[in-house]
Amino acid sequence: MEYRNFGKTDFMTSALGFGCMRLPQVPGEESRIDEPEAARMVRHAIDQGVNYIDTAWSYHGGQSEVFLGKALQDGYREKVALATKMPSWLIEKQEDFDQYFSTQLERLQTDHIDFYLLHALNQKHWDNYLNLNVFDWVEKQIADGKIRHIGFSFHDEYPVFEKILTGYDHWDFCQIQYNYMDVDYQAGQRGLQLASERGLGVVIMEPLKGGKLAIEVPPAPVKAVFDQTERPWKPAEWALQWLWNQPEVGLVLSGMSTFEQVEQNLASASRSGVGSLTENEATVIEEARSAWQGLAPVACTHCEYCLPCPNEVLIPQIFEIYNNAVMYDHQDRGQHTYQSQIAENNRADVCIECEVCESLCPQHLTIINYLKDAHVYLSGG
Ligand SMILES: NC(=O)c1ccc[n+]([C@@H]2O[C@H](COP(=O)([O-])OP(=O)(O)OC[C@H]3O[C@@H](n4cnc5c(N)ncnc54)[C@H](OP(=O)(O)O)[C@@H]3O)[C@@H](O)[C@H]2O)c1
Repeated sequence: MEYRNFGKTDFMTSALGFGCMRLPQVPGEESRIDEPEAARMVRHAIDQGVNYIDTAWSYHGGQSEVFLGKALQDGYREKVALATKMPSWLIEKQEDFDQYFSTQLERLQTDHIDFYLLHALNQKHWDNYLNLNVFDWVEKQIADGKIRHIGFSFHDEYPVFEKILTGYDHWDFCQIQYNYMDVDYQAGQRGLQLASERGLGVVIMEPLKGGKLAIEVPPAPVKAVFDQTERPWKPAEWALQWLWNQPEVGLVLSGMSTFEQVEQNLASASRSGVGSLTENEATVIEEARSAWQGLAPVACTHCEYCLPCPNEVLIPQIFEIYNNAVMYDHQDRGQHTYQSQIAENNRADVCIECEVCESLCPQHLTIINYLKDAHVYLSGG
């Protein structure tokens, strides 16, 4: 296992961390973790040098923390740094901090959390935490030894990331979504660099874009890029090595769902290192990114010049969902996202074809036609 500095903390983290959001489940019972298999995976990873385990209040419907409490018995708790998170969306009043945190300690069968995060921070949750003086509570837990390091995970636009990062002077670490397709998404590469410059350890989540970058046989244009190289790596390893190559990356969390994935990612981590990719290999990743992007049906750059739409169609958001669904061949997930994230009065079928958007689009996209295609694909109609 390779170990890396973790920001200004004195913790040397394993390059690979275990994310407990995608544990194996009992076949046919989606809410139940296959505990014997999941424990075998977690303990094997720890035996092979993984020293950071990530969970949260909400993972597996609350069962992830309970499971880990059991899996880390028999001396395993002492071998790892344990990370879990305050469920930001459930916090209404100051008393909630103690209530959730004490339940988490019970679930995890521990008296302290090594790395505690405010979960999924966005503008709304950040404002709520500031109103409730969350840092008074955090600093008391740190003084009492119940929290060892404080950080946050993030899901919002970059300016909000900068605001949160600079809005508290004692952050130890943060957790961001980052992979070779999400370089300019949310915190992105800019956020990674800023956090690292400020001395925070950076935890990477969704390194394989939730598995989309790990399919054994990617679409032909992407496969052709990887096939040119001499490395015998699978697509998952390319994505992971690209992350470990960067000095600002602290640890890469992988949400592994099979024992085989654990073994593969442990082997990849053992080959990892800052600067271990050659210049040519870094170019391979650039080419793979372009090949994926070439599969997108709409060449929308998300510049938002088309907004506001007079009839409130959320044009760039719809194209993003449509592009992702087509690129990664996930029509069902795209349909679900479209139904759940775009309100009916903002969907593509409320377009009145006034052409205002088309006159403003710097890419000269035929937006009206693309909206029709997107609606058919995403509504299954
Ligand atoms: N704080 C937050 O807001 C937040 C949000 C997201 C995630 N997280 C944390 O970050 C962790 C990592 O994110 P993630 O789970 O999305 O990571 P990820 O590595 O991007 O995706 C995990 C999925 O990738 C696939 N995979 C992993 N290793 C593979 C391999 N060697 N070969 C082929 N496929 C492989 C598996 O998909 P299949 O199951 O389909 O095989 C697995 O479920 C989570 O587990 C969680 O702990 C936190």
